[in-house]
Amino acid sequence: MTDFLRLLEHAKPYRGRLAMAMVAMTAYAASQSAFLYIIQRIIDKVLAQGTGLNWVIAAILILSVVRGFSSYASAYLMTDVGQRVVRDLRERFFGHVLRQSATFFSRRSSGQLLSRLTNDVAQIQRAVSETTGDLIRESLTLVGYIVYMFYLQWELALVCAVTAPLVVYPLSQLGRRVRGQTRRSQEELENLTHIATEAFTGHRIVKAFGAEARETDRFHRASMQLYRTYMRVTSLVASLPPLMEFVGGLAVIGVLWYGQNRIARGLLTVGEFTGFLAAALLMYQPLKRLSGANASVQQALAASTRIFEMLDRHTEVTDKPGAPALAPLVSGVEYRDVGFAYDDEPARFIVRHASFSVSKGQVVALVGLSGAGKTTLVNLLPRFYDATEGAVLVDGVDIRDVTLRSLREQIALVTQETVLFDDTIAENIAYGRPNAPRAAVEAAARAAHAHAFITAMPAGYETRIGERGQRLSGGQRQRLAIARALLRNSPLLILDEATSSLDAESESLVQDALATLMQNRTTFVIAHRLSTVRRADLIVALEKGRVAEIGTHEELVNKPEGVYARLYALQMFDEREPAEPGDQSKEPT
Ligand SMILES: Nc1ncnc2c1ncn2[C@@H]1O[C@H](COP(=O)(O)OP(=O)(O)O)[C@@H](O)[C@H]1O
Ligand SMILES: [Mg+2]
Repeated sequence: MTDFLRLLEHAKPYRGRLAMAMVAMTAYAASQSAFLYIIQRIIDKVLAQGTGLNWVIAAILILSVVRGFSSYASAYLMTDVGQRVVRDLRERFFGHVLRQSATFFSRRSSGQLLSRLTNDVAQIQRAVSETTGDLIRESLTLVGYIVYMFYLQWELALVCAVTAPLVVYPLSQLGRRVRGQTRRSQEELENLTHIATEAFTGHRIVKAFGAEARETDRFHRASMQLYRTYMRVTSLVASLPPLMEFVGGLAVIGVLWYGQNRIARGLLTVGEFTGFLAAALLMYQPLKRLSGANASVQQALAASTRIFEMLDRHTEVTDKPGAPALAPLVSGVEYRDVGFAYDDEPARFIVRHASFSVSKGQVVALVGLSGAGKTTLVNLLPRFYDATEGAVLVDGVDIRDVTLRSLREQIALVTQETVLFDDTIAENIAYGRPNAPRAAVEAAARAAHAHAFITAMPAGYETRIGERGQRLSGGQRQRLAIARALLRNSPLLILDEATSSLDAESESLVQDALATLMQNRTTFVIAHRLSTVRRADLIVALEKGRVAEIGTHEELVNKPEGVYARLYALQMFDEREPAEPGDQSKEPT
C-alpha cells in the first residue's frame, strides 16, 4: 500500500493534467450511464407511446460526441501522466544508482541494475500508463451504473449487490498472488539479464575456454524458470474473466426472477426493467477490465517495490553539511594513521596504521605483492571509500571535511583497465573537461603519443571507438586515458598499474606519455617497472596492508631483510628500460 502511495506521489507534479483527465473520465462514465436512461426512454416513450423521438435522437447525438471526446481526452491525458511519472522514476533511479558508493557497485552486477532500470520500469510503465486510466474510468462507469440501478430499483439493485463479495474476494486474493509471482518473475528476469551481460561482455573468455555450451545451458535454465513463472502469472490472470462471467450470470438470473415478479405486479415498467437489465449486463465489461487492471497494478506494485528498495538504499559518499571547497593544492598529501576495512568484512583490516606524506610535486611509488592493499590505499584519496580509522589530509585538511566535487576536481586517475566510452576520440579525451577547445585536446593527445594513431584513423578525432574502446589496441586505449588525464590537468595524479597490461613496445610509448603526465604533479604510482619505482621520490612498501618501509630506492634496496629488498630480489620489478619513443611508424595498432 505504501508503495502505491509513493507511486501516486510521483504524479503530484502533474495534478493539473490528472484533474483534467478525471473530468474527462467522469464525463465518459456519465455518458455511459446516460445511454441506459435513453434505452429506458425509447422503450417506455418512443416505442410504447410514440412520443419523444426527437429528444432521443438529439440526446444520442450529443452523448456520442461527449463520449467520444472524453474517451480520447482521458486516454491521452492518463497516458501522458503515466509516462511522465515513469520518466521521472527512471531518471531518479539512474541518478541515484550512479551516486552510490564503490561498495554498492561491487555487490551488484551491472546486469542486475540494468534489469531494474529497464524491466521493472517497463512493468510499471505498462500498468501506469495503460491501465490506470482504465482503472479510474471503469470504476467511475461502474459507479454510474450502480447509481442508476439504485435510482431505478433499489430492491433489485440490492439483489445484485449480494453477489459483490463473490467478485471482490477472489479478486483481492488473486491480486495478492499475482503480485508475489510477478516479484519472482522480475527477480528471475534480473538473473537472466545478469547471465547474458556477463556472457556477452566476457565473450572472448567464454569462447577461449570452450564454455559456450555451459553458458547456454545456464541461460536455458534461467529462461525456463522465468517461463514457468510467467505462465503461473498468466494462469492467475486468465482465471479472472471466467470467474466474473459466472458471478455475473448468477446476478442476471436473480434480476430476471425478481424483476419479472415485480413487472407482473405492476411495480416496474418494461423500460425500467430493460434499463436495469442492460446495466447489469453492461457491468460485465467494466468489471472484467477492472480485474485485468487490478492484475496489472499488482504487477506494477511488485516492480515498484524493487525500484523503491534501491531508491531507499543510501550508500553515497556525501559532503558534510556546509563543507567548504578544497583550495588548490599547495603543500602536499598526508596519510595519517589510516586504517581501512571493507564494509562486508568490518573486522578484516585491509590497511592498518598507514602513515606517510608526500610533498607537492613529488612522486610516491606504492609497492607490494598483489593483494597487499595498494589499490585500496589510493582509492581513499578520491574518497571512493572513506578511511575507517585515521585520516587522509590534503594541505592539512581532512578530505572528508571538504566537498567531494572540489576534491575530485584536483585528481586525475589512470587505471590498469582503461574505461572509455562509446563516443568519438575527441569526446573521450575531453571527458574530464567537456568544453576544452580542440587545440587543447590535440595538445594532450600529442603529449600522450596518441596524435599519430588518431590521425591515421578514418575519421581522426571524430572516430567512434566502440563500447569500452574495443576498436583500439590496449596501448592505444591507455594513451587515450593518459591524454584524458593530461587534459584534466589536475595537481594530483593516481596511476594504478597504468602500464602493466601492455606489451613492451606500446609500453615504451605509454611510459613516455606517463613521464610527461607526471611532470609537476603529485603522483601516486603503483607500478611494476623498476625505472618508475627507482625514480620515485618516495617508495612506500606495503606488506599485508601495513606500511613496512618508507624511503628511496637507494635507501631501501640494500636493507638486509627489508621488504623492498625482498621484492627486488623476487624480481617483482620489470627491469626493461623503455625503448626510445618517438618513432611513430613503429606504433602498435
Ligand atoms: N571491494 C572489495 N571488497 C572486499 N575486499 C576487497 C575489495 N577490494 C579488494 N579487497 C581485498 O583487499 C585486499 C587488497 O586488495 P587491493 O587493494 O586491490 O590489493 P593490491 O592493489 O595491492 O593488489 C585483497 O585481499 C582483496 O581481497
Ligand atoms: Mg591493485
